[in-house]
Amino acid sequence: MLKSSSQRTSSRIHSDSEFLHSHKDQDFDQVYPEAIGRLSICHWSPVHVCRTAAQLLVVDPDTRVLDIGCGPGKFCIIGATATKGHFTGVEQRGKLARIAQDVVRKHDVPRVNIVHGNIQDVSFRDFDAFYLFNPFEENILPSLRIDYDMELEPRLYTDYTTHVQQQLMRMPMATRVVTYCGDSTEIPDCYACVKTAFNEKLKLWVKKHPAPDHARAAASQPDDHSSSPQMGGGNFAIA
Ligand SMILES: C[S@@+](CC[C@H](N)C(=O)[O-])C[C@H]1O[C@@H](n2cnc3c(N)ncnc32)[C@H](O)[C@@H]1O
Repeated sequence: MLKSSSQRTSSRIHSDSEFLHSHKDQDFDQVYPEAIGRLSICHWSPVHVCRTAAQLLVVDPDTRVLDIGCGPGKFCIIGATATKGHFTGVEQRGKLARIAQDVVRKHDVPRVNIVHGNIQDVSFRDFDAFYLFNPFEENILPSLRIDYDMELEPRLYTDYTTHVQQQLMRMPMATRVVTYCGDSTEIPDCYACVKTAFNEKLKLWVKKHPAPDHARAAASQPDDHSSSPQMGGGNFAIA
């Protein structure tokens, strides 16, 4: 039998909003409808990973972080409660994007914007730092399929991965990216892994070199050689 929201409430937590600050996944995940919370163990980042990743990505209060495939917004919500950064999540599944938006609205979570859309329509230039937890793998690994709402194809894995590589190549030097799990195929060679955590499942990447000319030509836009990532308050754009 399914438990009601109040029955699922841990004895030490007295209001829904306290879940947002919990360090335990079993508590945090109760902000979600039960079916979505149940997916957490496999598909959403654990709380301790979200906190560490956000702290590695946010270098000052203006840092704008994009979660590439945000699911129900767990990383963005925890990132915004654990740091002073600004978090945007883009999610292709309307149902998950709406759940994330509902949590943000209901609990008044500051500095979080959730967008229903495809990563191919997002302007990376509006962000300073990026987070990826296996966004595209379900296209090639059937065991990672989240639901049957989307058509999945190996071709999409290649298209999305190539798109992210090309966008990251164009970012300014010193741009930061955190990956959790996966083989980091999305990270171009001009980024170096400078830190790992959680048995090397979490990796911090920093852009250390300009992208090679042939790669820049493929990305069809000049590389940016400025010395630090863009900061400041531009709005999120869906191109
Ligand atoms: C493994 S989940 C990670 C969710 C979240 N980032 C986290 O760490 O908790 C990957 C998410 O990426 C989304 N996704 C996959 N391809 C996408 C695309 N092309 N554009 C936007 N979202 C995408 C999936 O729908 C899924 O919700």
